[in-house]
Amino acid sequence: MMRELYTQVIMDHYKKPRNHGEIENPDIEEHLLNPLCGDEVTVYAKFEDDKVSEASFTGRGCSISQASASMMTERLLGKSRREVEAQIKSFKAMMTGDEEFPEEDELAALKGVIQYPSRIRCATLSWDAFSRGLNGG
Ligand code: FES
Repeated sequence: MMRELYTQVIMDHYKKPRNHGEIENPDIEEHLLNPLCGDEVTVYAKFEDDKVSEASFTGRGCSISQASASMMTERLLGKSRREVEAQIKSFKAMMTGDEEFPEEDELAALKGVIQYPSRIRCATLSWDAFSRGLNGG
């Protein structure tokens, strides 16, 4: 039951990605390729008063990588650089099993991926891209 729900969340974001597209004159534009499969994602963000005022992504790849990017853009909007860093760290900790996200948190839908180690990179790709962008590549 829970697993079905998780799959629904992922498929929903995959089919109707949020914040999909480029941003003009972004403060962050970072492209990352998963060499294992050739899938890719580019993340874009703009800051205003140290807060993410716009976040978006483009890419091509599996449902997990694209859904994760979609969820990430929603999650990081409005956050300060420091909060973004903390959120990325937390998310990556969940994907290594070191941190639990509450089940009602939509991002928890991705933790099932841990059972398939080769797919963990799918879930973290966009987050790593954002992190690189934040730290100047
Ligand atoms: Fe390529 Fe998921 S299979 S990112």
